[in-house]
Amino acid sequence: MTDEPASPVCYASEANDAYMGYADAAEVVAALNSLLGAERAGTQVALATRKSADDPALAAFMAGIEKDEAHWCAMLKKEIEARSGTASTVRGDFYEKAMAIADPAERLRFLNRGQAWVVRKIEALCPRLRDDGLHRALTEMAERHRFNIAATDDFIAAREGA
Ligand SMILES: [Fe+2]
Repeated sequence: MTDEPASPVCYASEANDAYMGYADAAEVVAALNSLLGAERAGTQVALATRKSADDPALAAFMAGIEKDEAHWCAMLKKEIEARSGTASTVRGDFYEKAMAIADPAERLRFLNRGQAWVVRKIEALCPRLRDDGLHRALTEMAERHRFNIAATDDFIAAREGA
């Protein structure tokens, strides 16, 4: 008798995610928390911009962004907690940087840069995920972000053309 496992095949299937090239649980939780900080900042930028908007069209547009960002915050929290992680309460410093920009169109352009960062972060993470459910949720989040980036560009263009 040796200490070797009875079945090398079974043993291989139990190899940890990092060894197999997948992000391990701690890395996934850290990445989700980083996204959560960005989405929380995004939600609050949209909320503050909506509340201070003197243009009803801008307020209505921000309400849509705010709703989406808040939705992704909830999804990320759920996925972090499903992995026994602790959802960070940090708000990305993106918020202060965005709110320091007074001009609404410039702030929206900055918001879009943050949204593009989120898309890139998801694109880098997805191929390294073993979990299909999380993969689907993040793919949908990236798609929705791409949609909102384009909608925001259109909104700025319409506003500047007005
Ligand atoms: Fe976002």
